[in-house]
Amino acid sequence: MKAVEIKDGIFWVGAVDWAVRDFHGYVTPRGTTYNNYLIMDEEITLIDTVKYDFADLAIKNISGVVDPSRIKNVVINHIENDHATSLDRIMALAPNATIYISEKGKKGIERFFDTSNWTMKTVKSGDTLTIGKRTLEFLETPMLHWPDSMFTYCREDKVLFTQDAFGQHIASATRFDDEFEKSDSAAELEDSVIDYYANILMPFGQMIKNKIAEVQSKGLAAEIIAPDHGIIWRQNPQKVLDMYQDMANGKARLAVAIIYDTMWQSTEKMSVPIAEGIRAEGLDCRVIKLRATPMSVAIKEFWKCRGTLIGSPTLNNILYPSVAEFLTHVRGLRPKNRLTGAFGSYGWGGGAVKEAYEECKRMGLQTVEPGIQIPYRPSPDDEAACFEFGRSFARQVIEYHAGF
Ligand SMILES: Cc1cc2nc3c(=O)[nH]c(=O)nc-3n(C[C@H](O)[C@H](O)[C@H](O)COP(=O)(O)O)c2cc1C
Ligand SMILES: [Fe+2]
Ligand SMILES: [Fe+2]
Repeated sequence: MKAVEIKDGIFWVGAVDWAVRDFHGYVTPRGTTYNNYLIMDEEITLIDTVKYDFADLAIKNISGVVDPSRIKNVVINHIENDHATSLDRIMALAPNATIYISEKGKKGIERFFDTSNWTMKTVKSGDTLTIGKRTLEFLETPMLHWPDSMFTYCREDKVLFTQDAFGQHIASATRFDDEFEKSDSAAELEDSVIDYYANILMPFGQMIKNKIAEVQSKGLAAEIIAPDHGIIWRQNPQKVLDMYQDMANGKARLAVAIIYDTMWQSTEKMSVPIAEGIRAEGLDCRVIKLRATPMSVAIKEFWKCRGTLIGSPTLNNILYPSVAEFLTHVRGLRPKNRLTGAFGSYGWGGGAVKEAYEECKRMGLQTVEPGIQIPYRPSPDDEAACFEFGRSFARQVIEYHAGF
């Protein structure tokens, strides 16, 4: 895709990665983009670079606007590989450019490149850079989602460059929210925002709230939010700010996710009446078998629902490995404001359901106990008990949800 002007004199010069399906372990069924931006002013300024294997594409896009050797400043908002690993290619074309980067970013980037011949200036929150008619203001956003992360705000154009925050893994021929909502749908865009938040940003909810408040208190009103992945928010940047605020405040659907795995389908057989019980209380319910579902999708569905039931057979006294993997993954994301319970089939001593509860409590999540455990195959009576378990869990989810 060619350069696209997002505001007078400010161009998207990134690359669309239509083919990536595994983004450091997350499934990206729609691919992604690596967005970077070129500001044409007295001092031509590039905001971020792209993943190294897309450097040629980005350089071609820059060259369509201006000779890259004329770049005077390069702002690096985040040093992760997908945004900073073609910095050497840019610096080879514009060796006299000055790099603006946070202190932690500077230390990190030195692990990737020999920077001895590069001019680097470290910046912190509130620092500004005048590039001609425009002034750029920097705002550090540590741990959103890396220690070095920062936003760059163009005051005159009211464009906020936010690196990964507010991004989505969407490869598309469209660049803007309004275009994408027409070509695809608003629902798909929202789902991609939730997917990104759930898998990458879930641990940082409090920080997100603080940063949004800081952006507002500093008057960094954004007419355009330009992230480093996916669609640029120009029609309704407030929408994604509200979505982040809501998710950071614990917003979830009044629904239950059943997330399970099974060896011989007994735990799976239990999930059917449990789901019916949940439905009988009027709640939406989605059922996710872990080995049939990419991890990042299971995490997204967990995050969307107010309640989750974990189903696992016992294998060698403990949780089934795919269930343990899921719970370990979720624990790292430090979820809050979700109600949990567990069920499963076992043969002799059992152990999986107990361990599932231990894991949920270790995460600080509220639990509904006891869960339900059934030896080998569930009988019709067991299925009736599973139905009642589903009903009772759903009622408690409704009660818990009322607190939000
Ligand atoms: C390799 C293997 C190891 C197992 N280890 C245990 C165990 O340590 N404790 C236990 O209670 N059941 C154990 N079981 C029995 C299963 O938990 C039981 O077959 C259960 O019904 C399987 O549920 P599923 O059909 O949902 O996979 C084991 C089964 C297999 C195949
Ligand atoms: Fe990142
Ligand atoms: Fe990224």
